[in-house]
Formats: sequence, structure tokens, C-alpha cells
Amino acid sequence: MTLKEYTYMKVIAHRGYSGKYPENTMLAFKKAEKAGCDEIELDVQLTKDKVLVIIHDETIDRVSDGSGFVRDYTFKELQRFNINKKFGDKYGFNAIPCFEEYLSWVKTKQITTNIELKSGNYYYEDLEEKVIKLIREYGMESRVMFSSFNHVSLIRCKQLIPEISCGVLTLKNGLGNAGYFASKYHFECYHPDIRGVTDETIQNCKDYGIKINVWTVNNEEGLEKLYDWGCDGVITNYPKLCKNWLALKENK
Ligand code: G3P
Ligand code: MG
Repeated sequence: MTLKEYTYMKVIAHRGYSGKYPENTMLAFKKAEKAGCDEIELDVQLTKDKVLVIIHDETIDRVSDGSGFVRDYTFKELQRFNINKKFGDKYGFNAIPCFEEYLSWVKTKQITTNIELKSGNYYYEDLEEKVIKLIREYGMESRVMFSSFNHVSLIRCKQLIPEISCGVLTLKNGLGNAGYFASKYHFECYHPDIRGVTDETIQNCKDYGIKINVWTVNNEEGLEKLYDWGCDGVITNYPKLCKNWLALKENK
């Protein structure tokens, strides 16, 4: 097996700079951009009044001072909760952002965005349509990609806007012959859990012309291995660590 030549390994900030700041908040996104990431990954869900919001879980319990399902609150009601479970008072008040707030901020920045459609546990009606409508309104078609564990959501995105790239997310067992699977459905990328990735996974994707972005890569051991294999991107909670490591590696 020969892995093809390495080109550029993107650093993708997972839920923003979530290793140091409250995940999926504007603070974490701004800090990730300042840290020099190439791309931000974020998760979208829908509120009771059908506003797209950026939060990982279907409920607010794990990350905030509140409880309950996102879909049971209006956007306005959700705004009173603080994303402070992990860092306490350290960063003051950080609200759940709406996707539109994020787009209006990122529009002027030189980074791209990986929008993860959280439709795996609960299939929000018209989630894909609503995300795409806002992307179009903000003219961000060439600066975003989609990813999802729910591959039906990706098929829907391809029906609606084929020019936007899609990444097939998988959990730690991965997917055998993932490169073929992705190419069969015209998806451009494969996004596996690092625990299930080998050089063969990467070669398989390269054989089918599929880019591979691996999550979640938070240490040098992972970076070294993926860099040597010619991985296209790492999705990380620590974008600064990854950027520093890459700069040293490439003697920049
Ligand atoms: O994009 C990689 C990653 O976000 C997938 O897992 O659960 O953190 O959304 P999760
Ligand atoms: Mg995600």
C-alpha cells in the first residue's frame, strides 16, 4: 500500500475552541479563529419556533444551567440559559447562539465552516432546507460544508444544493469501504472517529478521490500519525496546539 503525497492538513476547530472555552458559543468560535484554525465545526438543531441554533445535544442539560429539550423552547426562552456547565463563572455569560448570528460574524472572516446537521436522534422537519436558506441569504455557499451521522440528511442536502460538499460522519467502528460509499452518493468527504482509522482507511478514501477529516484529534501522537498518512484535515478541540505542531513540523 502506498499513501499518496501529502498536500495540506486543515485544522478544524471542533465546536469552536472547545478545549478551552464553552463549546459551540460565539466566544469559542472567535477564539478558534484567533488561534488560526482553517475551519470551524459546529452543530445545528431547531427550537420550538423553528430557529436554527448551535448546540450539540438535543437537550441543554449537559452544557448549561438549564434543562430540557431544545425543541421545547422558543429561541427567546433559550437565551436566558448560560453555557457554563464546564467552565463555571470563568467566562461570564455565554448564550446559545443562533446560526444566523454565527453567519453574520463568520462572513467577514477568512475561514470555512463545517455545519453538522444534528438529525440523528430526532429528525427535525426541514432542517436541511432551513440551513440552506440561510447559507444562501448570507452568500456563503462556497465557504461551508455539511456533515452528519444521518446520511439521509446528506442525501437531502445533495438534492437541494449539490455544489456544497458533504462529509460522511461515522462513530468509532467506522464504515468498511468508506471511499466507495461516499463516492457512490457523490459525497466528497469521510469523517471517521480517530479510534477506527488506519492507513488502509485513508488509502481507501484516496483511491476513490474522497477527502478524509478525522475527529477528535487532540494530541501529538494522533497528529503525527494522520500527517504521515496524508490525512486532509483534523477536527480538534485544541486548534492552537494543532497549528503550532504543524508549524514546527513544516519548519514555518
Ligand atoms: O465533526 C466531528 C464531530 O463533531 C462529530 O461528533 O458528537 O462531536 O458532533 P460530535
Ligand atoms: Mg459535531
